[in-house]
Amino acid sequence: MSRGKGLFITGTDTGVGKTQVTAMLALALQQAGWKVGVMKPAETGCPVVDGALQPQDSLFLRQITGCTAPQELVTPYTFLEPLAPAVAAEHEGRQIDPERIMHCYHELAERYDIVLVEGAGGLLVPLTEQATFLDLAEQLDLPILVVARNVLGTINHTALTVTVAAQRCRVLGIILNTLSAEIEDVSQNSNVEALKRWGRAPLIGVIPYAAERRHDTLLHQSTQIDLQTIVTQLSLTGEER
Ligand SMILES: Nc1ncnc2c1ncn2[C@@H]1O[C@H](COP(=O)(O)OP(=O)(O)OP(=O)(O)O)[C@@H](O)[C@H]1O
Ligand SMILES: [Mg+2]
Repeated sequence: MSRGKGLFITGTDTGVGKTQVTAMLALALQQAGWKVGVMKPAETGCPVVDGALQPQDSLFLRQITGCTAPQELVTPYTFLEPLAPAVAAEHEGRQIDPERIMHCYHELAERYDIVLVEGAGGLLVPLTEQATFLDLAEQLDLPILVVARNVLGTINHTALTVTVAAQRCRVLGIILNTLSAEIEDVSQNSNVEALKRWGRAPLIGVIPYAAERRHDTLLHQSTQIDLQTIVTQLSLTGEER
């Protein structure tokens, strides 16, 4: 039995800010005194540096949190092509073994009070022929946090994601993330209220745009997340600290 708790961070799409939110959450939890581990079980689109695949999200999350767990535990599967993991694996003639991911997760959960697990793309992205990231979250028994983009379309994308997630897992909440400094569309004036009404899960954070992705800017952004709800929902008792 692992001692740590876990949280699965998904998004309504790729590029919506899962890594950004995972990083700010990790830093906020660290600041509150918990030992935080990170995991990105499968990462695709990894550039090759000195002959090795470099998973950018994973490296960033490890670096910003000072995570000393080995790269192979944090990201057991890396692929070159920027495709869904099951597709990238197929192209390379490889197979992803969810059991291996689960083993890595439990190793991390032994070392940390909480492990934040970032998915790839959205919830129904295939990990293998049979399994999606939702299956993985369910097998790991992780509650789900949904990151949504602050643009027109977010009500539908968020409600769809929450609805599917809630069929199999506990949905802890939604984080609405602003990816651009420009007011891109008029929906940005009403998305917060709209998600509260129709998002189908509690809206527990509205993140402003930040021009840079640094430790201090991420911590500043993290103040917009209702950390107490996350701590309570995960039953982080404080005894772990
Ligand atoms: N609130 C924000 N303010 C400014 N830039 C942001 C914000 N959130 C995310 N970004 C930037 O937007 C880009 C996409 O964000 P991020 O990498 O976190 O998305 P993702 O959902 O993790 O993507 P992927 O599906 O590739 O894992 C990154 O360059 C990130 O730094
Ligand atoms: Mg990411």
